[in-house]
Amino acid sequence: MNTDQFLVKSELKHIDTASFTWQTPSNIALVKYWGKSNPQISKNASISFTLNNCHTITTIDFSKKQNSELVSEFNRTVDFDLFFEGKQKEEFKPKIAEFFRRVEEYCPYIFDYKMTINSENSFPHSSGIASSASGLSAIAMCLMSLEKEINADLSADFINKKASFLARLGSGSASRSIEGPLVVWGKHPAIEGSSDLFGIQFPYKVHSVFENYQDAILLVDEGEKQVSSTIGHNLMHNHPFAESRFLQANENLAKMAKILQEGDIKSFVNLVESEALTLHAMMLTSNPYFILMKPNTLEIINKIWEYRQENNSNICFTLDAGANVHVLFPESEKLNVLQFIDSQLSKFCQKNHYICDTVGFGAKKL
Ligand code: PMV
Repeated sequence: MNTDQFLVKSELKHIDTASFTWQTPSNIALVKYWGKSNPQISKNASISFTLNNCHTITTIDFSKKQNSELVSEFNRTVDFDLFFEGKQKEEFKPKIAEFFRRVEEYCPYIFDYKMTINSENSFPHSSGIASSASGLSAIAMCLMSLEKEINADLSADFINKKASFLARLGSGSASRSIEGPLVVWGKHPAIEGSSDLFGIQFPYKVHSVFENYQDAILLVDEGEKQVSSTIGHNLMHNHPFAESRFLQANENLAKMAKILQEGDIKSFVNLVESEALTLHAMMLTSNPYFILMKPNTLEIINKIWEYRQENNSNICFTLDAGANVHVLFPESEKLNVLQFIDSQLSKFCQKNHYICDTVGFGAKKL
């Protein structure tokens, strides 16, 4: 794998201070990533819709350290303060410190600056919506803005590629949170230009039925997940169905690529739901086994199936590694589906809370 392309090879310019703000989205996988090898390489290719309203906004202020503050290569550490929604957050620091450790080889300039990171999410904190994808992609974009400033030769294409590569080292799914509306991560013969190292925009023309696709996120369980995705991914080692799952996911990605181009929405509904249930089936059949769905997750799924049948609708659901339900539907059904959610599904959500989102186009510099 050619990771060399992401090393910094040229002489870097000296700047004293810089500040960059990026808004980067969350994403929802249609074909799921579950199971990885080191360093954060997925066992199968995945594809996701980039979201629009669920995002993180992060500013990083960089200030160059004085020569006296720079220490030798052997005991240097990355120097940063972290504020989340205006408050210093010591408890979030270890995860970000680990991210910096993983990317330092590719961003050696992080040792030269003191960084102040200010971050906020558009979605409620601990709503059960994973913030690692949007959070880490935002930091990756800020690092790439600095890199561009001190190494002006970088193309926009390379910046996105390397940002996705860096974000992936923090959280696999974060590699799919730089661009939109559909991103593939993982090398796959049916997707030209795909890579295990970074996400790429789905490279083929997508049928208009999938334009502006809607995602209502029903917050069944607001709170920390009982089993982190890191533990879940690790349980795919020695999992009895792992190899067939990885094969199936790659087959499903080939099917999904065709569905998206042809606008075959009935097959889309079937494949998306099957992927969601297979993800959770992997959790049910790992050892130790675990269940992230809640009774209300199942109530919602059954109601969606009933509604689809009765109204000849194309509504479907997908799930993340949690109890919340993403309800996906074409824009043409928006009015009816939102009424249905309001009258029949919101009662299964904590505090009747759900978030209306649509497919989005990726990271934005503010
Ligand atoms: O990126 P991670 O390590 O949080 O894993 C994400 C895994 C799923 O959200 C369950 C699936 C996916 O492809 O996004």
